Amino acid sequence: MSTDHTSTHPDSPLHGRGAGSETINLAAIRQEYTKGGLKEGDLPDNPLSLFNRWLHEAIDAQVEEPTAMLVGTVSPEGRPSTRTVLLKDLHDGKFIFYTNYESRKGSHLAKNPYISLSFVWHALERQVHIEGISSKVPAGESDAYFHQRPYKSRIGARISPQSRPLKSRMQLIRSFVAEAARWVGREVERPVHWGGYAVTPERIEFWQGRANRLHDRFLYTLQADGSWRKERLAP
Ligand SMILES: Cc1cc2nc3c(=O)[nH]c(=O)nc-3n(C[C@H](O)[C@H](O)[C@H](O)COP(=O)(O)O)c2cc1C
Repeated sequence: MSTDHTSTHPDSPLHGRGAGSETINLAAIRQEYTKGGLKEGDLPDNPLSLFNRWLHEAIDAQVEEPTAMLVGTVSPEGRPSTRTVLLKDLHDGKFIFYTNYESRKGSHLAKNPYISLSFVWHALERQVHIEGISSKVPAGESDAYFHQRPYKSRIGARISPQSRPLKSRMQLIRSFVAEAARWVGREVERPVHWGGYAVTPERIEFWQGRANRLHDRFLYTLQADGSWRKERLAP
């Protein structure tokens, strides 16, 4: 059996037209979305309760990495970038994730705290887009989460200069081993360059795939009095 994933059988609808056997006809990859629907009448006043329900349904459905979200930041030059991180807590209406404050995303957020978070649960044909403002979580909250992490992840967080160039993997492993030796028999401390961000949402959009690309989209927008405006958007 061929292990070359860049080629398709000539009879396959995915086989590319014209350009040779190594091309895949991406336009032929197409799926109808029929798993559910979202009705106006089912929308709670607070989008956090709908988010919680969808997150729990993703966990119950055993989708891969149900807490994974794409985090969008903007550089000081106004250029957007994204990367995946894991949602680690949701409290007081805020979405919490942990990272290196000196990473690329950290340097963006230090200059521009506006942020987007996107969850995609393909198995449920659902996505949620959140936009809001980020702030660092209090040090005590980062400490509490850091101390729950496995020992080796704590060492890794201390030594990884996240997002900066490395000479080699060996450089990373040497730092890891040396740092691990320093903490034998002691509680590994959280480094100041590592901690949480809390995202306060201002806009949350729920998307449920429907047949014929007539998807359900509902946007919640935070109002000055703290309530949320709800509206249906065209797919
Ligand atoms: C499934 C998955 C989960 C991840 N979770 C985290 C996370 O919780 N925190 C983190 O800093 N990076 C996480 N990463 C790595 C980030 O995507 C990214 O490579 C890293 O944070 C550096 O990003 P930056 O250079 O844009 O700052 C995860 C990657 C994947 C694929």
